[in-house]
Parts: sequence; structure tokens; C-alpha cells
Amino acid sequence: MPAISASAPGKVILFGEHAVVYGRPALAVPIFEVQAKAIVMADPRATPGTVRIQAPGIDLDAPLAELPDQDPIAVAIKNVLATLNISRAPAFTLRITSTIPIAAGLGSGAAVSVAVIRALSTFLGSPLVAEQVSALAYEVEKIHHGTPSGIDNTVITYGKPVYFKRHNSDRVTLEVFGIRRPFRLVIADSGIPSPTAEVVAEVRQRWQVAKPAYERLFDEIGAIVEAARQAIEKGYVERLGALMNENQRLLDEMGVSSPQLERLICAARQAGASGAKLSGAGRGGNMIALVSDETAEVVMQALQQAGARRIILTTVSQR
Ligand code: PMV
Repeated sequence: MPAISASAPGKVILFGEHAVVYGRPALAVPIFEVQAKAIVMADPRATPGTVRIQAPGIDLDAPLAELPDQDPIAVAIKNVLATLNISRAPAFTLRITSTIPIAAGLGSGAAVSVAVIRALSTFLGSPLVAEQVSALAYEVEKIHHGTPSGIDNTVITYGKPVYFKRHNSDRVTLEVFGIRRPFRLVIADSGIPSPTAEVVAEVRQRWQVAKPAYERLFDEIGAIVEAARQAIEKGYVERLGALMNENQRLLDEMGVSSPQLERLICAARQAGASGAKLSGAGRGGNMIALVSDETAEVVMQALQQAGARRIILTTVSQR
């Protein structure tokens, strides 16, 4: 049996993080400069049912049976087997590698799940369709995030720009949207881990004690998302900078920014980025800045000087 591999991109949220957990829309795009990859190799000499997991990036090399029940990789594997009604799979080794930084808001957990689900279902002879892949990855996201909106597994599974809105526990609006004119983004890592579940839980606590104020913030963010989608679809890229700055102001008001993120955001704007904001859960993790061909280099240098750990320049376009 040949080895089967599958890969999945990272992602950034362009607009709408946090508010998306409360039913407002958000926009996210895949980032192909970073990838997670899963390879499934048959172990014909091992007893059927034996599964070995190797993930050198997190120092993991263990039999599936030894992983905790709630281990995200274990859950992804077991969910694929259950979906395909396979009680005893042929023995295999699953090897996972990833260039997506962990806990940085770039979707590393969802990308690993999507790559594993795709590679394993293909190896077992029944490749799952995108909707099933995304649904299974969403189940794993619940372990990582507590109450995930579902945007990460969606954008990463489809590998396209998505407009995403969760109406309730099982109804979502998912629209792939067009990018009329490509635009360039610098993505910079603050170097501080972004504990998504914690930050999401804190926002929930603050929302519980000040619902009207938070609902208003979420509504304002929702309006920014709609305006940004229109601007992107119509090719009015120059409008995006101001919308990013406005979204950042509201995220800061929501209490999810941090001095380190503000430092990077300020540095990018001062160096000529037309807009900048945190991306993802906040507190740490990544920020994004909208740049042009002329400003990209200077903005990247400024971010480096301001302490950014890892900087990616990407072009968001219709692939
Ligand atoms: O980009 P991440 O994985 O850090 O996710 C955060 C996005 C949130 O809106 C804060 C949470 C979610 O589940 O959508």
C-alpha cells in the first residue's frame, strides 16, 4: 500500500474575530506559505488495529493506545474510523509535520486535523468530502478552543477566502468570496502564545456582566466585516486599511489586545502600512498589516525592530 499524504494551509482572520463567536460574520483567508502535512504509511507486519503516531515537531512518537482520550490527534483519528464504520483498521503509522507556529492564531490545530482526516480517510479507501472533513475538524477544535466558531476548520478545509457566520450550534452561513484585486499582507508574530480558549472565555465573562456594551461592540465589528467584504469583492482595496484600524480599536476596547501587539501595530502603521490589527484571539499571537509593493519591505523591517519573531509576507488573491 503506498503512503498517502495530505496537507492543509494555515489561515488568518482578516476581520471579525471574537464577534464571530456571538453570531456576527467574519472573514478569513488561507495562508499557503505555512502548511501542515500528514502522511499515512501502512505497517503490513504489525497486527491490524495497531496505530503509531509520529509528530517530531511536538516530540511525539507513541502508539495511539497510549495517547490520552482527549488528545486532538487521537480524537481526529477515532472520529475518522467511526465515520467510516471501521472498527479495526489495517496497521499504520501517521506522521505529522507542520510549519505553522502553534498557538499563534494561524490555525495550526485545525490544519493538522484537516490534513490527518484527509490523509487517513484516503488511506482507508473512502476520502471524505470537504463538508465532512470540516465537520470532523470542528469536533477537534472544540478540544482546543472550548466554544469555537468553526471559522478555522472551514477556511482551512476549503482553502479559499470565506465569509463565515454561525447562527446556532448547527447552522452556519459559509460563503466563498471573490477577491477582485489582490492585496498584500504582512503577518507578524508577537512571540507570545495566544491561549485562544482562555481569551474567548474571558470575553464571555465580560460579555456576561456587560451584555449591552459587548453586543454593541460585536454589532460594530459585524458592520466592518460587511464593509470589508464589499470592498474586497469590488476591488476597493484602499478602503481596507481604515477598516482594519477601526476593527483593531474595537478589539482593544474588548480587552483582547496587549502592549506587545499594540507595539507591532503602531510600528507597522508608522512605517507606512495603511492599516494593522491583531488577528485571531489576541493577547499574543499574530498581527496583520496591509502593505503595498512599495511599503512591504520597510514595514517588515520596522516590525522586526519592534520585536516581531516571525514575519510572513503574503498576497491574498483568488487562487
Ligand atoms: O485564530 P485563532 O485560532 O486564535 O482563533 C480565534 C478566533 C476567535 O474568533 C477568537 C475564536 C473563534 O473560535 O472564532
